[in-house]
Amino acid sequence: MGLKFNEKQKKAWALLASKGKTRFLFDGGSRSGKTVLITEYLVRRALQFPGSRQLAARKHKTHAKASLWNDTFRRYLSAGLPRSCYRMNETELTICFKNGSRIVVGGLDDSDRMEKILGNEYITVFLNEATQLSYEAMQMAVTRLAQKVRDARGREAVPKLILDCNPRGPRHWLHYVGVRHVDPDTEIELPNVDKWVRLNWSAHDNRENLPAEYLAALEALPELMRDRMLNGIWRDNQGAVYEEFDEDLHGVEPFPIPDDWKKVRAIDFGFTNPFVCLWGALDPDGRLYLYREHYQAAVRTAEHARKILELSGNERYGFTAADHDAAERAELSSAGIRTEAAFKEVTAGIQSVKNRLAKQGDGKPRLFFFNTLKNTLSEIYDYRWAQGNDSRNAKEEPVKLNDHAMDALRYMVAALDRRTGGEFRSASAPARQSGRW
Ligand SMILES: Nc1ncnc2c1ncn2[C@@H]1O[C@H](COP(=O)(O)OP(=O)(O)OP(=O)(O)O)[C@@H](O)[C@H]1O
Ligand SMILES: [Mg+2]
Repeated sequence: MGLKFNEKQKKAWALLASKGKTRFLFDGGSRSGKTVLITEYLVRRALQFPGSRQLAARKHKTHAKASLWNDTFRRYLSAGLPRSCYRMNETELTICFKNGSRIVVGGLDDSDRMEKILGNEYITVFLNEATQLSYEAMQMAVTRLAQKVRDARGREAVPKLILDCNPRGPRHWLHYVGVRHVDPDTEIELPNVDKWVRLNWSAHDNRENLPAEYLAALEALPELMRDRMLNGIWRDNQGAVYEEFDEDLHGVEPFPIPDDWKKVRAIDFGFTNPFVCLWGALDPDGRLYLYREHYQAAVRTAEHARKILELSGNERYGFTAADHDAAERAELSSAGIRTEAAFKEVTAGIQSVKNRLAKQGDGKPRLFFFNTLKNTLSEIYDYRWAQGNDSRNAKEEPVKLNDHAMDALRYMVAALDRRTGGEFRSASAPARQSGRW
């Protein structure tokens, strides 16, 4: 479609065409040019093989529509192909080409939709942000790579699976499968290991197409996030207090909080350090969603109070837990923000948070974060245990640095967990034993 590829994209294009290779993982930094290259490849396959089908899917249909359909395919098709060559069906999320080929965009989150999508056969399956999917979903998609079509010269299409993602921890199934080419359970080499190709990307690879400020912002991230999002390295959270934190599991796209969900707030004071207020909401099952943050240093308490009131709007709160400073709490109170003194015991508070981060029997944790809470998420990665000289004591206290949102988070969760009974559970919740919310 006339894009000028960067060097990494040229290499990726050559790999996609290489003989005998049918399984591809492009893993790497944020905005390194992976998805754009794959998009172009899907269009190229559709044009080369008349009547062929390509699938471009990610976990959630809403995300597939926003990112793949609107941001990627719409932009690149309109820039690169005459309108008469293709038609975009907005309800079906299908691109139909004049030669009878199709690109189907979809989500694998809804079983009816998935059945419909996977009821077809394809010559190309692209799974975008594949770390968000399960290994089973990937295997299911692979079984649909069975369409038989030929190009104008009579050559049969070789079915191809293409995965892209940003790196996570090295124990993720996709690291086993796509990077090490071993079975995630047995760690035995995959039977089709010679079909696999992996290409690792860095945001620097796409320097020519990114604003300098964007790369500078990635450089400024906490080390773990910088390694993953800039350099494209698979790294785990080892040594982090909340090493079980996983953005794919605990991070959620923002959504409007239903009116009947109970809401709470927690505040950690600061002037030289940031002052933090966090907002949380409980769903009917008692799962806690952190949905808003106010995070600012070098401003007086009265100004924070004004900002908190503005952000809170008409919302009502079960409680606002705050750090103990009496003068600050009095000032908030005179501005109309009543607080209760937080439970500040560090080890117990951390344990309460860790309990909520752990997956329950249904595979879901009880603590989620809107992925827009940049400061809170950044602190989660930075929050580390102090390494004492005596290794036996190494894990008792976290490093007191960049821990302001972490303090507020502890106050909120501890205040919730110390309340027994259903006082703050959202209205439609079924009766439940105490302590579960
Ligand atoms: N060859 C190119 N020419 C012009 N712009 C490009 C090119 N390749 C990528 N871009 C632009 O760079 C940005 C990032 O590209 P892309 O979305 O493909 O990255 P990505 O590796 O998929 O990132 P993420 O991991 O965040 O999904 C986009 O805005 C895209 O339009
Ligand atoms: Mg992408």
